[in-house]
Amino acid sequence: MADARRSPFHPYAGRFAVHPVMPDAGVPRAELLDQVAQMAAEEDRRGDSGRVSGSIYSGDHEHYAFLAEVFEKFAHANVIQRDMYPSATKMESEIVAMTAELLHGNAVGDDRDCGGTVTSGGTESLLTAMLVYREVGRAKGITAPEVVIPVTGHPAMFKAFQYFGIIPVVAPVFEDGKADVAWMRDHIGPNTVALVGSAGSYPHGVIDPIGELGALALEHDLGLHVDACLGGFILAWAEPCGVPVTPFDFSVPGVSSMSIDTHKYGFGFKGSSVVLFKPHTLRRHHYFVLNGWPGGVYGSPGIAGSRSGGIIASTWAAMLSLGKAGYMAIADDIFTTCTSIKDAVRSHDELRLIGDSVFMAAFRANPDLAEPIDVYHVNDSLMGSGWRLNGAQLPPALHFTLTRPSANPEVAAAFAADLAVAVDYARHPDQPLPRSGAVYGSGGREVDLDSTTAARFDWFDAMYDVGPLD
Ligand SMILES: Cc1ncc(COP(=O)(O)O)c(C=O)c1O
Repeated sequence: MADARRSPFHPYAGRFAVHPVMPDAGVPRAELLDQVAQMAAEEDRRGDSGRVSGSIYSGDHEHYAFLAEVFEKFAHANVIQRDMYPSATKMESEIVAMTAELLHGNAVGDDRDCGGTVTSGGTESLLTAMLVYREVGRAKGITAPEVVIPVTGHPAMFKAFQYFGIIPVVAPVFEDGKADVAWMRDHIGPNTVALVGSAGSYPHGVIDPIGELGALALEHDLGLHVDACLGGFILAWAEPCGVPVTPFDFSVPGVSSMSIDTHKYGFGFKGSSVVLFKPHTLRRHHYFVLNGWPGGVYGSPGIAGSRSGGIIASTWAAMLSLGKAGYMAIADDIFTTCTSIKDAVRSHDELRLIGDSVFMAAFRANPDLAEPIDVYHVNDSLMGSGWRLNGAQLPPALHFTLTRPSANPEVAAAFAADLAVAVDYARHPDQPLPRSGAVYGSGGREVDLDSTTAARFDWFDAMYDVGPLD
């Protein structure tokens, strides 16, 4: 078992009681609320500073308080009990319809043939979409289904491939982070069931050439999933804000499904996303019914069984309370700040931007210099001044996903100043090997950078250890 005493996962050891067993008598509510308040305040401080890439997205505590008020009304509701909670049916169908309209799946007055489901997050949306394409393939007699996916496609799809027995055909991307469509075309075979593109990709925030992928999908009668989990709710406002972006949604012929996370730029609470299909009949491949079961005829529309009414209600309330104007105002600030952050990166010959994302600054070391710096040294210095960017690899890179707390000129100016110091540091680092690296879901410092599968599994074990008892 991992040594919890040396584990980085227990900063509260020694401050709050550890509970390896349930107490005989309940802990007073006031005491628990006090502990929770302390932990939340300390942990929010970092995200609210605007120095964190991605992760928290809204950071508006008044908005959160409003969502919490809505959540509370249905936190206990299990929406699989449809007769008890028709409110959830109303709200979920409206979340799906509003999202479909935003992504040009159902223009008002259209035949409304785009439909979907609210899921628990991007991963479930992607699992659902991949499952659908496996089933579509099965219906055509394909028993060893393949999906052609750019190497930058999110790991949740690789999780789906592992879970559902799909064979990934992994396409390279160009220096700008975008999929090599010609490679993808050349690797379509008789077992291909779908193609994937991102809008934008997690590593670099770029939009793959969705138009070309759509044409390919139509030509070969394949599904095309656009993973807009990260970018969907921000890229949707680019055009109205006068920021040109590659068309990426259902307006592109050939796009047959999309995933888009309400718990990212949708500014809902964590635990919600939308998966959409066009035509909506594709959705029927993820419905599940078991007739001859002693517990009764069982049915669930998606992967989840019981689901919280609170998350559906608060997601619905987030969308309605912000409205298009609310989302656009925040998006506008994000686009503007992103331009400033990218300008700061561009001002250093030692660095090179990757791609053209409008909401993320992704950059690597300039490989053409006689003595290129190590971009992770840049990160070491930035971490020292309180920034938490994300490390990427292949090639080594960093990215800064702009969110509402970071979308202001003060943050951009502070970043430019600290980046200059960081680039200087990277020229003469105080240790040859950088302390940070590329570990998803971590600022990069807390973990052993040996990211072998076994090392990561040890890491997970350590996470589930309750920590030192004294
Ligand atoms: C492009 C992309 N797809 C999918 C996901 C997975 O979303 P989740 O973490 O909500 O499961 C992410 C998460 O950052 C993402 O950036």
